[in-house]
Amino acid sequence: MPLTNESTNWAKSAFLSFCILMFCQMPGFSQNINKILHYGQRAPSSHNAQMWQVDTTYNSIRIRLDPTKLLNKVDPSNREAWISLGAFAENCILSASGFSLMCDIQHDSTGINLTFSKSTAAHKEKYAKWIIQRKTTRTPFKKEELSTEHQTIIKNFDVNITYYPLNSEYGKIIADNLYSSNIAQLNNSTKLQELSEWTITSRKEEKQRKDGLSPSDLGLNSFSKAFFYALFNKEKIQSHRFINIAQRNTLKQVNNCSGFIIITSARNNKEEWIKSGRLLQRLWLKLTELNIRVHPMSQSIEENYYPELKEKLNINNKEIQMIIRVGYSKPRKDCSARSDLKINNG
Ligand SMILES: Cc1cc2nc3c(=O)[nH]c(=O)nc-3n(C[C@H](O)[C@H](O)[C@H](O)COP(=O)(O)O)c2cc1C
Repeated sequence: MPLTNESTNWAKSAFLSFCILMFCQMPGFSQNINKILHYGQRAPSSHNAQMWQVDTTYNSIRIRLDPTKLLNKVDPSNREAWISLGAFAENCILSASGFSLMCDIQHDSTGINLTFSKSTAAHKEKYAKWIIQRKTTRTPFKKEELSTEHQTIIKNFDVNITYYPLNSEYGKIIADNLYSSNIAQLNNSTKLQELSEWTITSRKEEKQRKDGLSPSDLGLNSFSKAFFYALFNKEKIQSHRFINIAQRNTLKQVNNCSGFIIITSARNNKEEWIKSGRLLQRLWLKLTELNIRVHPMSQSIEENYYPELKEKLNINNKEIQMIIRVGYSKPRKDCSARSDLKINNG
């Protein structure tokens, strides 16, 4: 039977689609997805709960909440969980550019969809280094102003970012509010119990689980770590002794830094939380590059002290999504653990 023009065209386009599909499914493409996920997973998450899971195809990643890892007591609306997923997504997008991949990002009510395609532009793998080096540092920082150059970089970074030096009127307001809200949270037994579940209290637990907060994550050196394991278990984290130590530490933290950076958004909804997480991550990578240490402190947003803080900072028309303590100090040598990623391959 003679071939018509129509059927030849159909055959051509089917062949072309087949070639594109084969090209995209070449091992290189899916290997890159695995590498991108490795960088994604280095994102920060509250209590290091890593409340993410992913579905993948050869050219896409869908990031969803892991319902078994949500912090129902300190984060009942999952605001911080979505910020953490936003940071995960940003790491994926930035690291993909190192593999000459472009990324389209969309979200719906249950997840963030990243679709990758080949980019003709040549990119250097400039983000990978900072993604790996980024970390939370909870030790006291130098009580020293950020350099003018660093303040200018932060000021020009994004309209939703503001830096408040500790020695300014607003800086003192933030330090006081963080201290009071921390005390309130430490004295809330259900929130403290949740914290104890995410705090590693023995060497055995440290070996077994790769999430949560270890003594070194909390800023303890190996000598203090031995004492910590000897003194505290899950129950004793809820004791007066622990609360007193934590209170004293918080006071030292808020009074020993250069200042605080606040990330705001126009509204409080999932879209803004994802955007804030992406912005947090971009900013944190820049601060890592500048050797500025970072410590998120969320209690002012989580506790009833939130309206008072907005009022005193004169930002009643905005929502605060992140408060981070920043400053200079020696680099932290180790980094926090990560569990095996929950991946469903499509
Ligand atoms: C949304 C969000 C809120 C956070 N809030 C706090 C906080 O209140 N106090 C704190 O010490 N760390 C906080 N962190 C930092 C995490 O505990 C930290 O990212 C996690 O332990 C993983 O460690 P890493 O950042 O060194 O990789 C927060 C992180 C995120 C993403």
